[in-house]
Amino acid sequence: MSEPVDLIIHSAGQLCVVPPHDGGPQRGATLGDLGLIADGAAAIQDGRVLAVGPSSEIRARYRTNTILHAGGRCVLPGFVDPHTHLPWIGDRAAEFEQRLAGATYMEIMNAGGGIMSTVRHTRRASVDELVAGNLPRLARMLRHGTTSAEAKTGYGLDTAAELKQLDAIAALAAAQPVELAATFLPAHAVPVEYRDDTEGYVQRVIGEMLPAGARWMSERGVRLFCDVFCEEGAFDLDQTRRILEAAAALGYRLKVHADEFVGLGGTKLAVELGATSADHLVMTPDADIAALGRGNTVAVGLPGTPFGLAHRDFTPAGAILAAGGALALATDLNPGTTWCESMQMVIALACRYMGLTQAQAIVAATLNAAFAVGRGHEVGSLAPGYQADLLVLDVDDYRQLGYRYGTNLVRTVVKRGQIV
Ligand code: NIG
Ligand code: FE
Repeated sequence: MSEPVDLIIHSAGQLCVVPPHDGGPQRGATLGDLGLIADGAAAIQDGRVLAVGPSSEIRARYRTNTILHAGGRCVLPGFVDPHTHLPWIGDRAAEFEQRLAGATYMEIMNAGGGIMSTVRHTRRASVDELVAGNLPRLARMLRHGTTSAEAKTGYGLDTAAELKQLDAIAALAAAQPVELAATFLPAHAVPVEYRDDTEGYVQRVIGEMLPAGARWMSERGVRLFCDVFCEEGAFDLDQTRRILEAAAALGYRLKVHADEFVGLGGTKLAVELGATSADHLVMTPDADIAALGRGNTVAVGLPGTPFGLAHRDFTPAGAILAAGGALALATDLNPGTTWCESMQMVIALACRYMGLTQAQAIVAATLNAAFAVGRGHEVGSLAPGYQADLLVLDVDDYRQLGYRYGTNLVRTVVKRGQIV
């Protein structure tokens, strides 16, 4: 007798399971294990993967009223985007024009534009306006295969506006299918009110903003990440350490924007503090890369950012993998450097500029990306027990991902066992 289930997906030319390794991310040289099943199928019950295997086996063991015939196409876990700057209001197309004329990102920021320009727009917006302005972005991300994402504050830079962004993230999470992990980033930039007084702002972050975010956490019963932009012109290594140590003491999990333009030691600090991820890692010193191999901090490469800035240096994936590090990919979706909503585009860039194979980039954008937001035991894989978040591509070979770019190769998105 076959067992009834909610949904069966069968006849996938390739079913990519993307198995965890030793219950964790795929580290170092082992990155790229797709766990391919030819003519594969998955049985789904209560929003979770119950079993995967060859179509003939799954169809003999399970029955259902809801069948998704994959028609020989490729099926894989939904993408996880572990670094975005959603939600924001406004755009910076005029700054892009200035950059095309030769101005640098940091020059624009130091002249009061850049992050501060988005802060001015976002401070004026209500929670409802933030939700309305950002729902279409999440809808486009979902259509391009992103089924879970991270979202950060950092465009408020005062207590009320940072909490308003947290409220907007919670409202966005409730209003649409893409699951959101929230990050508190009051240390994204030094606001104009504190120009020439970075230390004063750091004390405000530690003394007032982090405790306010911690109260928000306990009222809502969710655990936030705390992130810091560790960079010349933003927060130095000592300030980053003090903010992150204070955050850890208040119960936040940690992330760091490290080595985007200058290697200040943020990656090594992230490993030392047991941060969940260290992100950007373009100018990372060798000693910091070695540290990634010893800790559990996931290195998140954001190739859309140097691409968006027309820079030539990208995250040194080969060195990170040689050191035994766990590497993930994300968009960095933001209005300043990287308005990119598609993990497919990120995979295409990672294959070309970070030297990853398609299989490595796919694992980095699914399982390892889930570990970069502390959800690697729930999403990012189609191993039994994982949440049934999956994609049916329009193509029959996973190697078309990364190879083709600029068109959406996702045909069907399934979130928690529901076709969305
Ligand atoms: O990750 N570098 C800091 N933050 C973003 C850019 C944010 C912005 O320019 O609005 C980044 O690239
Ligand atoms: Fe970022």
